[in-house]
Amino acid sequence: MRVDGKHYRTIWPDPDGAAISIIDQTRLPHEFIVVKLETAAAAAAAIKDMKVRGAPLIGVTAAYGLALGLRQDPSDAGLDAAMSLLKATRPTAVNLSWALADMGDHLRPLPPPARFEAALARAAALADADVALCAAIGDHGLALIRAAAGKKRGTVNILTHCNAGWLAAVDWGTATAPIYKAQQAGIPLHVFVDETRPRNQGASLTAWELVQQGISHQVIVDNAGGHLMQHGGIDLVIVGTDRTTATGDVCNKIGTYLKALAAKDNDVPFYVAAPSPSIDFSLADGVKEIPIEERAASEVTHMRGVTEDGRIASVRLTPKATPAANPGFDVTPARLVTGLITERGIIAPQRAALAAAFPERAAG
Ligand code: MRU
Repeated sequence: MRVDGKHYRTIWPDPDGAAISIIDQTRLPHEFIVVKLETAAAAAAAIKDMKVRGAPLIGVTAAYGLALGLRQDPSDAGLDAAMSLLKATRPTAVNLSWALADMGDHLRPLPPPARFEAALARAAALADADVALCAAIGDHGLALIRAAAGKKRGTVNILTHCNAGWLAAVDWGTATAPIYKAQQAGIPLHVFVDETRPRNQGASLTAWELVQQGISHQVIVDNAGGHLMQHGGIDLVIVGTDRTTATGDVCNKIGTYLKALAAKDNDVPFYVAAPSPSIDFSLADGVKEIPIEERAASEVTHMRGVTEDGRIASVRLTPKATPAANPGFDVTPARLVTGLITERGIIAPQRAALAAAFPERAAG
């Protein structure tokens, strides 16, 4: 997508593969800074510190990170070490282990001298595939927005949570792809963006994206969504997912579940943009089985922002003695999900429907 009118992806390699460039998302929306990663350890740190984040981008960064590791040490031991370093970064988004498993399957049979070039090529293929998946999700989601516009004959109001935009993927995004496609199709729309405490991915990242793409939007506090729905202010909700089970339970950024409950109570359609690498066909019960990342208490007790004189500063919100809990994700049970917008169409959040749409994944 565009940044100040210039097209960017969120990640790209140097021509010789010696380094990978990323956009440092911890600096947005106040500073647009591109960082070069030269080692698997740097890629792992970028994922852990959330310089890159969002399920699809975590997966692609791990794939490129593995290539950087193999550049230094292409032996079996080097491959295993880079794999475990990258795998240990963040537990919830299944795209991480999916991408690493895919890379391992391709690289392990090769002789070590061939592994670095092959890893770069495979990581690039995963990045390109992600763009194609998101674009297809955009086309299927566009049909939903078009239908809502036809029914309403006016501006379609969409609520989204966290950042499931192009910054969370390689391009297009998942939840935002239908929005960008609807804009291109000339459908009038307005996006309500949950701020998404504690890290404010909505207020900082989704809002920045929508400014860059010129889409009408407002940031709202996380608690405002239910009120807007009660007053007819939301036509549909579209969120992303970090891991969706074979039965359609959806794990996404903390607070998603509460939006789904409010949507159900108000008959507002609640859609999840779910590319197939985010579906974990080995799990049946999202609440019991999906590992939920517990992040630092300081993300809750403190907030970062820019002062009126332009300094980036962090301020404490809580009494010094007050501890904080910080679960990063929650699970929305399938019964609250209207549909999963996948690259193969809009699928019911049910085991049979998902297995029919993705037989090759469900069988494996
Ligand atoms: O902790 P984050 O910022 O990585 O969480 C991101 C989300 O929860 C997104 O909604 C999800 O990864 C889907 S991204 C297309």
